[in-house]
Amino acid sequence: MSTATLDVSAVRAQFTALDRRLAFFDGPGGTQCPDAVIDAIAGYLRESNANIGAPYETSRRTDELVTHSRERAASFLGCSSDEVAFGPSMTALNFLLTRAFARSLREGDEVVVTALDHDANVAPWLELAHDLGIDVRVAGLTEELEVDYDDLARLLSDRTRVVAFPAAANSVGTAPDIRRIVGLAHEAGALAWADAVHYAPHGPIDVTAWDVDVLICSPYKFFGPHLGLAYGKRELLESWRPYKVRPAADEPVGHRFELGTSQHELLAGFVAAVDHVNSLGWDAIQSHETALGERFLAGIPDGGVELYGLRTMSGRVPTFCFNVPGRSPESVATLLAERDLAVWHGNYYALETMRHLGLEDGAVRAGIVHYNTEDEVDRLLAGLAELT
Ligand SMILES: Cc1ncc(COP(=O)(O)O)c(C=O)c1O
Repeated sequence: MSTATLDVSAVRAQFTALDRRLAFFDGPGGTQCPDAVIDAIAGYLRESNANIGAPYETSRRTDELVTHSRERAASFLGCSSDEVAFGPSMTALNFLLTRAFARSLREGDEVVVTALDHDANVAPWLELAHDLGIDVRVAGLTEELEVDYDDLARLLSDRTRVVAFPAAANSVGTAPDIRRIVGLAHEAGALAWADAVHYAPHGPIDVTAWDVDVLICSPYKFFGPHLGLAYGKRELLESWRPYKVRPAADEPVGHRFELGTSQHELLAGFVAAVDHVNSLGWDAIQSHETALGERFLAGIPDGGVELYGLRTMSGRVPTFCFNVPGRSPESVATLLAERDLAVWHGNYYALETMRHLGLEDGAVRAGIVHYNTEDEVDRLLAGLAELT
């Protein structure tokens, strides 16, 4: 267990956006940005705004920024800088990469997803099922809402080409055993295709140690701007034929999957977001989040709140999905909003999870990140106690 501590007041002082009564428990929908991120975006537009590849000053600076952001992405993900691609969002990147990979798919090929996945890691495969006649199978969940690994293993066959899974579930917070899923996928001769959007603000990613083949995340969930970021193993990216315009460069290989002009100002913000995380360190972030998560779990009003998923901080991130019996998720979220508590309600696009739970209207979701405080957690618990 880490002994690193986080000075949460010092962290919050870096976020003008947090200087208000509203307590942000909606990080799973998008986190707030430190001022350094906002300043980097504005600074780029003021001082370096240009397209790439020209000999004049601002274009050269933009070239440098693009190289620098690829290096930062590589260090954030644990890969080489040529193996990354930026795009508008995880969803856009996933449709793009699945399309390129799908040029080698044949009718009857199989893809396994899990019932913990956000639809952005499911729908691209379902569209390929529609177009090509591939078969998409959904691995079930245990009672505790962990992946049912036996079920997943049963669904694999010699036609399985991909196992798609989340590094953490944006609904109930479960953090699956990544190495185990990757091992099962590779044993079956399939690619391991990870959605790390929800995991990324909560812990270090290491695509090399995890041995995933593809991993996609979104900087706007880890204190950066609205942007998507993908990793693909070099040999895969080299072997796939990208959908691209002919004059666009083929090097670095990840760039072949970036369509058109990049959002340069957002790349500047992305670099600042990674610098923010690095300045604090994952140990401090994780110990703070774990303490707040435990505080929330210990304080849930007895019998008044139905929590879905793991009741300890082991095997999960601090994202909590719950209902208050007798009240709709929307009314709970609205009543909490009236108390300056920002939570979301509905299915958060985790369709299979909600189907598994039999929740037609979904549930309420409260997510904790490193800038949340004990006081905010206590206010959330007090707000819930008032509604039960
Ligand atoms: C787990 C997960 N995957 C994928 C997505 C989609 O990400 P994006 O908005 O970047 O397309 C989200 C967004 O909420 C998410 O939480």
